Amino acid sequence: MNVPDIIIAIDGFSATGKSTLAKLIAKEFDFVYLDSGALYRGVTLLAQEAGLIDEGNNIDLPALRSLLDSGVDFHFTLSPDGNLLFTGERCIEKEIRSLKVSSQVSPIAAVPFVRAFVDNLLHEFGRRGRVVMDGRDIGTAVFPDAQVKLFVTASPEVRAQRRFDEMVAKGENPTMEEVRKNLEERDYIDSHRETNPLRRADDAFVMDNSDMTLHEEIVWTRGFLMGRFGILE
Ligand code: DC
Repeated sequence: MNVPDIIIAIDGFSATGKSTLAKLIAKEFDFVYLDSGALYRGVTLLAQEAGLIDEGNNIDLPALRSLLDSGVDFHFTLSPDGNLLFTGERCIEKEIRSLKVSSQVSPIAAVPFVRAFVDNLLHEFGRRGRVVMDGRDIGTAVFPDAQVKLFVTASPEVRAQRRFDEMVAKGENPTMEEVRKNLEERDYIDSHRETNPLRRADDAFVMDNSDMTLHEEIVWTRGFLMGRFGILE
């Protein structure tokens, strides 16, 4: 199917399956997939490694600003498992998905200069076009003119189970309670922060995938794109 060279913005709460949907869309319609959350996670990992955030989530803001100003290099490399995030030569894909990073990423992502740093990178990637990007503020703030905006939701139980299964598959050993608590905390911080909080863009279409299979999601998206762009197969 011939989808034009547009930007597709996918937003929603944590663990609603945004990245899974974005990857499916990229594969099905030959788009480049960009995971904006990975960049916030990358900044969080570097901040933790440099000792710039303590257990109470107090952040050494001047030091974090210097770290980002010193020219942190983030880039994605395509692999059969999807895009992998690198900083310089080092692949940090596994570390950024840990519960340790998940537990502190939302406070880091609420810092305005961190958002400006990530937004710059996203705009650079997005300039190439034909991109599907997922996050919390892609349709509202990063690409408000995106031609297609989806807002993905799922029930809290389904989300917690999905995130739990994903972490176990990656060799982590969380309890369901830890996963649920992390999701609740991130939902709250992500939707209540001052700078570009998570919200549905007025022109975003809602997909509740609690009871949908991946196949149904892609059939839904295909139908949506056909209608939106008047595509006849
Ligand atoms: O999608 P994710 O769970 O990997 O995102 C990790 C965190 O990054 C999320 O809790 C909030 C933040 N984030 C954001 O604030 N804005 C985005 N566009 C993407 C992610």
